[in-house]
Amino acid sequence: MHTRPISRRAGAFDSSGIRKVFDLAARLEDPINLSIGQPDFEMPAAARAAAKDAIDAGRNGYTPTQGIAALRERLESQVRAELGQPQRSLCVTSGSSGALNLALMSLVDPGDEVIVFEPAFVMYRPLVEFLGGRCVAIDTAPTFQVDVDRVAAAITPATKAILLNTPANPTGVVATADTVAALARLADSRGVTIISDELYRAYCYDGPFASPAAHSENVVVIDGLSKSHAMTGWRVGWVHGPKPVVDACTMLQQYTFVCAPQVGQWAGLAALDAPMEAPLAECRRKRDMLMAALRGRYRFVEPGGAFYLYPEAPGGSGKAFAERAVDEEKLLVVPGSVFGAADTHFRIAYTVSDATLGRGIAALTRLARGT
Ligand SMILES: Cc1ncc(COP(=O)(O)O)c(C=O)c1O
Repeated sequence: MHTRPISRRAGAFDSSGIRKVFDLAARLEDPINLSIGQPDFEMPAAARAAAKDAIDAGRNGYTPTQGIAALRERLESQVRAELGQPQRSLCVTSGSSGALNLALMSLVDPGDEVIVFEPAFVMYRPLVEFLGGRCVAIDTAPTFQVDVDRVAAAITPATKAILLNTPANPTGVVATADTVAALARLADSRGVTIISDELYRAYCYDGPFASPAAHSENVVVIDGLSKSHAMTGWRVGWVHGPKPVVDACTMLQQYTFVCAPQVGQWAGLAALDAPMEAPLAECRRKRDMLMAALRGRYRFVEPGGAFYLYPEAPGGSGKAFAERAVDEEKLLVVPGSVFGAADTHFRIAYTVSDATLGRGIAALTRLARGT
């Protein structure tokens, strides 16, 4: 009998706090679920049709490691049209999570430091630490904007990468054009690689999206179709950046994910031609509706993107507030403690029907009164 079957590395982690909220949701009858970070609209009809066609045409096997040529070439020309930089390479991955895994595996050695901005997407710290790297967290509260001077001060000889996420999960905050330009200049001058997680770039409500990759060929970009085209289950993402990094990602994909699911890739290719203005406008409308209802009742930074609102928790503790929300209102939100060291806020995902959002707003209004 094994006394210790689980590796020390795996044993060091706990289940994601968001999963715990999902488990709670499964046990509650008719909860108001504002905890799920995925779009509530359907993936484009043309993408659904392309998926069915691909299955029926027998396109069910492995694909080349770096993705089917038609999708890769389409994405490459999109990136070239936006950034120039003809030497940039691209690899299609198994979701943007796959891209994040591969990019970090390609860059991080044991002992390396990776700068992350907290609150941060739940996957960043475990991935870095699994590789033996060390996360150096910069707390962005209360504005949730990146302070480039603080980043400069946090860089040491051990710093390998900076993980930037804009528009951000969980705050919805979009980094300004000046910030991303300054961050790109800083990273280049100090020989540090920016990994720019741009999964929510389609969700920029108040101005154009700004990428640090527009200012440096060295930026490694993580992107995908999960959020922009409501394809979370199809696992289609990609990484683009300097050839040596993307070559390393491609090589590592051979030994891990093998390839992105083939049917998802054909669906993704069709999705790229679909007009997405209407569902994105709906998301913006819901953001505005939620902000209007909570203004004066909760304190929050107005989110310019993604589909989250990140208010301060009445009473000061995100955890205590999330528990109260479940107990008193069957309302599910995610406590800020899931996204970093601070437990001062909570996350609302507003990609739900108007009816659910209305119930959520009513519950949040009562909860604010009760403190
Ligand atoms: C910031 C961020 N990056 C990456 C991901 C991973 O998305 P996927 O693997 O579905 O592309 C998510 C999902 O919630 C996210 O919020």
